[in-house]
Amino acid sequence: MTTVLGLIGSARKWGNSEVLARQALLGAQEAGAKTDLLRLSDLHIEPCLGCMRCAIKRVPCPLDDDMPALIERLRAADAAILAAPTYILGPPGAVKLALDRMLMMIPYLDELAQQPKPGLALSVSGLSPWRGVALPFLITFLQGFGFTRINSLACYTPGPGEVLLDDALMARVHDLGRQLVQGPTISPPAANVCPVCHSDFFTLSADRATCPMCGLQARIESTADGIRLAFEDPTGYEGHWTPRGMRQFVEEWIIPSGQRFLAHRHEIKARRARLEF
Ligand SMILES: Cc1cc2nc3c(=O)[nH]c(=O)nc-3n(C[C@H](O)[C@H](O)[C@H](O)COP(=O)(O)O)c2cc1C
Repeated sequence: MTTVLGLIGSARKWGNSEVLARQALLGAQEAGAKTDLLRLSDLHIEPCLGCMRCAIKRVPCPLDDDMPALIERLRAADAAILAAPTYILGPPGAVKLALDRMLMMIPYLDELAQQPKPGLALSVSGLSPWRGVALPFLITFLQGFGFTRINSLACYTPGPGEVLLDDALMARVHDLGRQLVQGPTISPPAANVCPVCHSDFFTLSADRATCPMCGLQARIESTADGIRLAFEDPTGYEGHWTPRGMRQFVEEWIIPSGQRFLAHRHEIKARRARLEF
């Protein structure tokens, strides 16, 4: 039986994120899945130390917290839902704390590459113009923990649990939960939204736009209706946080940066002496 894990990124009990996560899980249950629910803020997750031991030496993280247990729950799930609010234009701290520890997935990259799993990201913000960059981070979270066939929805509603009053949205989210189990899991991307990670913010240079989340590029075209981003063909594209993208990141960037540090560590220590006050 398919197991769907719902993650809540808000500490607000019965807030909009929790309601949306439960509604999507209900859709998954009605499609025959076994479901499980976890509030990230109930976990004890320490900030990443940046020691890189997990990536370079492939040894367990030295921090003693709930991160290994969370990873086991994520590995055991066939699909995942992450619902979280926008806090000051980005994801809430509980989501980012866990996301920052994502390099702990490196030992499992082969496993993740073998079975691309579906994920559903639900962001809830007070107001659309204030939505910031929360949703792309929720998608990155899911991708980084092995859920690379992503669907997503940005929702707008401020008061605690107020989303329950929006019947159309609740029906949509129920259906997205069902789709996680029965498919299709991917909605066609909206115009000018990255088709890989659903980001709608870009870095611009000359006539190119680059998605900062996954690296996909688009040509900026001017049409009678305004600007159009003509994306590279995303079929088979391995973004930054897919298993292959992460392996490349580790082999081409993290490991050489460790070797460079080791080669220069005495010089670095000597140069820092005058800053040790
Ligand atoms: C500390 C804090 C910061 C917030 N920042 C934003 C923001 O930057 N943009 C926005 O649209 N809404 C913002 N909101 C509104 C929440 O995203 C919104 O109320 C959401 O429905 C909360 O979800 P929850 O009930 O699951 O906690 C903020 C709310 C709080 C408490």
